[in-house]
Amino acid sequence: MNTRILFVKRPTGWADPSCFALESCPEPVIGPQDVLVQALYLSTDPYLRGRMNEGPSYAPGFALNKPVVSRVVGRVIASQNAKFAVGDHVWGFLDWAQRVAVPRGEGLYRIDASLGRVSLAVSALGMPGLTAWVGAIELGMPAPGDTVYISSAAGAVGQLAGQFAKRAGARVVGSAGSDDKVAYVLERCGFDAAFNYKTTDLDAALREHCPKGIDVYFDNVGGSTLEAALRHANVAARFPVCGMISAYNEVGDRGIRGLQAVLSKRITMTGFIIYDHIHKLPAYLARVAPWFRSGEMVFHEDIVQGIENAPAALIGMMQGEAIGKRLVQVAPE
Ligand SMILES: NC(=O)c1ccc[n+]([C@@H]2O[C@H](COP(=O)([O-])OP(=O)(O)OC[C@H]3O[C@@H](n4cnc5c(N)ncnc54)[C@H](OP(=O)(O)O)[C@@H]3O)[C@@H](O)[C@H]2O)c1
Repeated sequence: MNTRILFVKRPTGWADPSCFALESCPEPVIGPQDVLVQALYLSTDPYLRGRMNEGPSYAPGFALNKPVVSRVVGRVIASQNAKFAVGDHVWGFLDWAQRVAVPRGEGLYRIDASLGRVSLAVSALGMPGLTAWVGAIELGMPAPGDTVYISSAAGAVGQLAGQFAKRAGARVVGSAGSDDKVAYVLERCGFDAAFNYKTTDLDAALREHCPKGIDVYFDNVGGSTLEAALRHANVAARFPVCGMISAYNEVGDRGIRGLQAVLSKRITMTGFIIYDHIHKLPAYLARVAPWFRSGEMVFHEDIVQGIENAPAALIGMMQGEAIGKRLVQVAPE
């Protein structure tokens, strides 16, 4: 038998385990041109919370009583499609199931195993990595000597955004929700300074760690962190707005105070969605993959074992449990 995870209830506020159901289902069967994939890693991402809501967003909402879908890394275990051979590693937007039939192989991408471990295709060498690059480098435009502040600094995107900005010559400051995360970005990712936003006053921390003000604020969280960054921004600062996770599980919109600073300080605040930049992935891989291979850059993955633990892994990622990119391993590589 196969096993899959269904989305069964729309949450109000925080998602909880009752929003999901583990279901046994028949093994998938493939026909002409189809590909059968054994799932290896499921990606847990903050935007999946938005997909649990009803109504339009930039990604379509999940249907009730259908499988959860996210980026999945897998191995081809049967193929009637000349483009994919048994043993190929692939990724695609697939159902959360142990094994999935992919009609005509559509939406499957072969992973170049020479670039690094296959899980990187949905982390540092995939969407989160390109997101960090576009936000930190293309929109942030850090110059040597600039101060770059990054929230959710120890997350999938944040840890890379900081390392990219550092390579560009900036002074990099991060905030994260535990002392272990702060130690990770300082000791492994080379941040110049970092603080635990849960145990430190934001204004005091930004005064201490950004004494010359903020030139680039890479926003992963929105809310009161964005408000504090506006207060400490320099004239002509850039604010790449990547995510607002502090609001994803809130009911209602508490708004952002202090937006007048955008005008008075001539701040460029740019929201971006990585789908609009996905054509840049090949150039990104060519540039960045060697940095991971050589060990010049680090990337931490937090891997939870077992498809049955995927709902809890997703909820826990939103609550700040994981350092780095949280994945769920469904089967051994
Ligand atoms: N624009 C795009 O195309 C795009 C693409 C990818 C990701 N994103 C966004 O980028 C952000 C980071 O994504 P990711 O995949 O790298 O996730 P992540 O940072 O690995 O994980 C989410 C983290 O958010 C932090 N968090 C949760 N609630 C918070 C709150 N109220 N205040 C401050 N921090 C909070 C937690 O860390 P702490 O322990 O530090 O609180 C948690 O570990 C998310 O907002 C996501 O939606 C946007």
